[in-house]
Amino acid sequence: MLSQKVNDALYSVRTSRVKLFRKIHGKPLWAVQPMSLQIDTQSACSLRCKYCNPQACYVENVSQRILPMSTLDRLLEMLSEKKVFINYARPWMNGDPLLELRLKEINKKIKKALGARIDIFTNGVEYKNRHLLHDSNINDIRFTISAANEELYNTVHGRPKFSEALKTLEWVTRHKYFYQRLWINFILFDENAHNLADWQKMFQNYRQDVRCLHFGEGRNQSKQLTDFDVELKTRRDAFFRSIEQQEKPCPCFGNMAISSEGKMLQCCDVDYKFNWGHIEEIDVMEAYRKRLDAGLNHIACRNCNQKNPHWKELFEKYVWA
Ligand SMILES: C[S@@+](CC[C@H](N)C(=O)[O-])C[C@H]1O[C@@H](n2cnc3c(N)ncnc32)[C@H](O)[C@@H]1O
Repeated sequence: MLSQKVNDALYSVRTSRVKLFRKIHGKPLWAVQPMSLQIDTQSACSLRCKYCNPQACYVENVSQRILPMSTLDRLLEMLSEKKVFINYARPWMNGDPLLELRLKEINKKIKKALGARIDIFTNGVEYKNRHLLHDSNINDIRFTISAANEELYNTVHGRPKFSEALKTLEWVTRHKYFYQRLWINFILFDENAHNLADWQKMFQNYRQDVRCLHFGEGRNQSKQLTDFDVELKTRRDAFFRSIEQQEKPCPCFGNMAISSEGKMLQCCDVDYKFNWGHIEEIDVMEAYRKRLDAGLNHIACRNCNQKNPHWKELFEKYVWA
């Protein structure tokens, strides 16, 4: 436990650089440069999660794509040359990192070039590839398991792999480095809200992160929220309130998202067609500046319901002035 407290402290120190920047420069870091990095190094996923926004756009409907290492190298070179402070990196986005056999090599490159914290989110179902998670460069490992029993798991995650996920979790619990933090994530929506209390009990020995499905109810077959689902409604309301209170245009803006085609995206949550060009053909910081000029007026952001209602004021104050 003490070792994880050390990791918590290191996390705070790294994150406090973002706060320090705000104090010294009088503007948030996202208004100048990206703070985090998400890369789809490949486009394959082992599950078909019902709530998964990316799934329909990127995983099922595209042939499998692998990001060439040379593109990753170029990206890291540009960011490290310009000494861009990246708080954390997530070398996956829409697929699953347990299908990325180059994962350790990728983590090593990111750590060496940027020193960023590395977070891995996985469904954990590829037990045969579990060794990929035994990596000293990873800081946080998060298993997404949005159900506490096999039947619901099959419905929510689309494939009968509950026991595989638990097997991998159990292995990682035994083999993780002492400083690594292990989380279980639950994506809360109308179809699994009733199972939350059981889930909390089942994973009581882990750090838990319950995230509300933040897309419109009409999206991904999610039904209208009903009043009897008080837990779900309360959490959703709190989620939207927290977005509004943050000095951020939306939850995704400070993130630099790279598709498996090697393009810098407008946003990690929208279609790949909204991009700022191929990494090997652009200057990423120039592209980020163009993205700042466009703000959330960008066509990709038009129908997004994650926008902070005050986003325009934030851009006017910190970027467009
Ligand atoms: C897209 S997944 C990819 C990584 C990995 N396959 C996994 O399952 O964790 C990354 C994270 O995004 C979450 N996610 C997917 N669709 C979401 C949505 N519509 N709203 C909120 N979070 C979502 C997943 O549950 C997971 O925690």
